Amino acid sequence: MSPDAPLSEGTSVFDAIDLAALPHDFLWGTATSAYQIEGAVAEDGRSPSIWDTFSHTPGKTDNGDHGDIACDHYHRWRQDIDLMRRLGTNAYRLSIAWPRVMPGGDGPVNPKGLAFYDELTDALLEAGITPSVTLYHWDLPQVLQDRGGWPERATAEHFAAYASAVAERLGDRVSHWTTLNEPSCSAWIGHLEGTMAPGLTDLTAAVRASYHLLLGHGLAARAIRAAAPGAEVGIVNNLSTVFPATDRPEDEAAARRHDGHVNRWWLDPVHGRGFPADMREVYGVDLPERPGDLDVIAAPLDWLGLNYYFPATVADDPAGPAPRVRPVRRPGVPRTGMDWEVDADGIETLLLRLTHEYGARKIYVTENGSAFPDVVRADGTVDDPGRQDYLVRHLAACASAAGKGAPLAGYFAWSLLDNFEWAYGYGKRFGLVHVDYRTQARTIKGSGHRYAEIVRAHRERGPEAV
Ligand code: GCO
Repeated sequence: MSPDAPLSEGTSVFDAIDLAALPHDFLWGTATSAYQIEGAVAEDGRSPSIWDTFSHTPGKTDNGDHGDIACDHYHRWRQDIDLMRRLGTNAYRLSIAWPRVMPGGDGPVNPKGLAFYDELTDALLEAGITPSVTLYHWDLPQVLQDRGGWPERATAEHFAAYASAVAERLGDRVSHWTTLNEPSCSAWIGHLEGTMAPGLTDLTAAVRASYHLLLGHGLAARAIRAAAPGAEVGIVNNLSTVFPATDRPEDEAAARRHDGHVNRWWLDPVHGRGFPADMREVYGVDLPERPGDLDVIAAPLDWLGLNYYFPATVADDPAGPAPRVRPVRRPGVPRTGMDWEVDADGIETLLLRLTHEYGARKIYVTENGSAFPDVVRADGTVDDPGRQDYLVRHLAACASAAGKGAPLAGYFAWSLLDNFEWAYGYGKRFGLVHVDYRTQARTIKGSGHRYAEIVRAHRERGPEAV
């Protein structure tokens, strides 16, 4: 599909997306995460997470927003499953709140915490929706942060113990498991840039955190497999295509560093290639390595998860903090409400890179989506042409990658619901479903209807039917 082709309401999805390139058992899903939707932060024994602390620290989030109530999903989850049913999706990516399940961080399991996810799992399966469970979507129990958090090795070990407890309980019904969501954000944004919890700006802490996150991933992958033998285990990374701002050698080197920082640092070690030597030099921080760790980190994976939102164009920034790059705005490129560039080719490029460079045997797009300032109109509808356009373009690029051999097995739209967009609070709306935070009313947006139409079309006229 040409990037300039207009996508009007009437455009057939068949004109835009090669649905026949997607396998018949494709997972059509939506995604959310615990802290962003659940609310009920002090209920049934949940302890505070680093995001409760961060969002309640003045000045850290837009408007002082926090997740105390969020979408009240903890009480409204039945209604939310009903929305998934109305969208016609057959999969749902959720995350489990560690501080609900193990409020002490490494302590005993909280039965009420696990019971919530147990019931949710049963209800999803009853609705014909495959649960895809993420164990860590950034909500570290604050008690563990108080003991040093991810820069400490013990956190990786506690993570594996928590993963084991969850897999033991849900593993008879859940087969799709993600250890970590976007560890690069936890490490780099949380410990280096400081704009996400725990809000540190310390390169040594950030590099140590990155190491222990990946160690925790490997330990948890083993623990899940031991507790749930049929489990399919993966990791979810948010990757970017990276371009140099100019063809000056300095900018080209900056682009390689940025690629190392956001992509290779996270992909190479889990593929048995160790931590990239060029980036070790860029950071100049000793890794807290112990013999055998690299084998744990490289635990064989069943699939890779790709979260894709935007490409990066960078220039050299010799005086800046590691990795010494600065982002450059490309003029004339369409942008979302996050001010992120819209570039659907990026998702195709990354799917093919995971296939060819990393030998991925199975890939899920675990997140992809866009924020726009949506409003409910007087007639009760929400028209979101920008999001529809983004959705169709990116699905077209996914199908194109699949047509070229990428083993793409599913797509999860970010997000089912408008929700707490971290430091941006509730001002940024990513949902296929609009949430009125005063009344908690849910309204399926135009993009939700569009997605439902695509899912239906694949079911009716996709490869299964031919
Ligand atoms: C992330 C997270 C999501 C976000 C989404 C939009 O990528 O930051 O996985 O929790 O809400 O990506 O920013």
